[in-house]
Amino acid sequence: MQPDHAFWMPFTANRKFWKAPRILTAARGHYYTADDGRQLLDGFSGLWTSGLGHCHPKIVAAVQEQVARLDYSMGFQVANDKALALANEVAALAPDSMNHVFFTNSGSESVDTALKIALAFHRARGEGQRTRLIGRERGYHGVNFGGMSVGGIPANRKVFSAALLPGVDHLRHTHSLADMAFSRGQPAWGAHLADDLERLAALHDASNIAAVIVEPVAGSTGILVPPIGYLQRLRELCDRFGILLIFDEVITAFGRIGAPFAAERFGVVPDLITTAKGLTNGVIPMGAVIVRDAIHDALMQGPENMVELFHGYTYSGHPVAAAAGLATLAAYREEDSFARALALEPIFEEVLHSLRGEPHVIDIRNFGLMGAVELAPRPDAAGARGFEVFLKCFEAGVVVRNGGDVLQFSPFLDSTPEELGRIIDTVRQALRGLA
Ligand SMILES: Cc1ncc(COP(=O)(O)O)c(C=O)c1O
Repeated sequence: MQPDHAFWMPFTANRKFWKAPRILTAARGHYYTADDGRQLLDGFSGLWTSGLGHCHPKIVAAVQEQVARLDYSMGFQVANDKALALANEVAALAPDSMNHVFFTNSGSESVDTALKIALAFHRARGEGQRTRLIGRERGYHGVNFGGMSVGGIPANRKVFSAALLPGVDHLRHTHSLADMAFSRGQPAWGAHLADDLERLAALHDASNIAAVIVEPVAGSTGILVPPIGYLQRLRELCDRFGILLIFDEVITAFGRIGAPFAAERFGVVPDLITTAKGLTNGVIPMGAVIVRDAIHDALMQGPENMVELFHGYTYSGHPVAAAAGLATLAAYREEDSFARALALEPIFEEVLHSLRGEPHVIDIRNFGLMGAVELAPRPDAAGARGFEVFLKCFEAGVVVRNGGDVLQFSPFLDSTPEELGRIIDTVRQALRGLA
């Protein structure tokens, strides 16, 4: 018998959801329209995706034009004009030494692609024993087997524990309520946490480790901002040990922290960058891995007619996605989005931290236009308070997100101070009404 709802929702409490579904039917600018006609202010820019706002006219037009001109072209042994133009533009935005771009369709695919490139690189240089991968506790790198394995979210790993990649270890995470609660921007405490890589290098022997992957600012586990000096220290240690450093910038790229990439904002150049989301403003799924020249070049070996990397997706460099990407990058330039986001950061910080002292708030964290408000969990029901705030805000016409008891915020790059104020005041009212 056909169920009432065939749609199996991702990362959702499905049975509860269908008792009172939240269904969106349209969006424009900073607002969604729900199926009951209500307008909702989007306080999360989609899912960290849509910094330019929804249905941006120039991206819509570019997609419409492209889908009627070249809807699809095979990506193996044949290229399309839009993909190669986009790769050049992405490389131009990336740090100087990173001029090669491999397209994927999502953040998860970008992560698995980057891990494979890291392994292939070491092997090509005669260091094929470097197979170990290091992630970090509380890291999120998507849900494919590679990303899940280097990821550090227990709930995502638990059921699949026996099937996780072998040879993976994790750095300790960078958060300590006792040492950094209510820090504004980067915490002063904690650079030494990067030294945990020395422990893992000693344990496994550095010569066996291929790569370390971290989110420069951890997003999904509640905005864990890197302590001052932490990323620099990690870079130094990777250099010392010959380990590749991968920045997972699926969230932090394209203006979210007021720069094209976190690499630029923090002044630390990794060996590979994984990205997605803001690459197309979320309009068409697309991801990318941006690779240092030396890594790419090391793989360009062997007979010229041979495939150098046995990896790729049917939709790698999809022309319609690439057209959306080109229009997105053009809009960032025309609207000076990255500088606007940077200018908005202190205003966002001020409004967000005004929640200090409200009921149940035990920490507030922010960097760029990423923000988190952590609530004390109910002793008998972890995550319940966070979810209730999400629901109350949704009912009050504002979309925020909760990851357990951490409320998360990702405003548009061109949000107004009034919009930021409305989002935070809606949360304030919700908190005051909580048990
Ligand atoms: C840092 C990071 N990496 C990877 C992913 C996975 O991306 P996707 O959901 O597009 O597969 C995400 C998604 O939020 C992310 O935040």
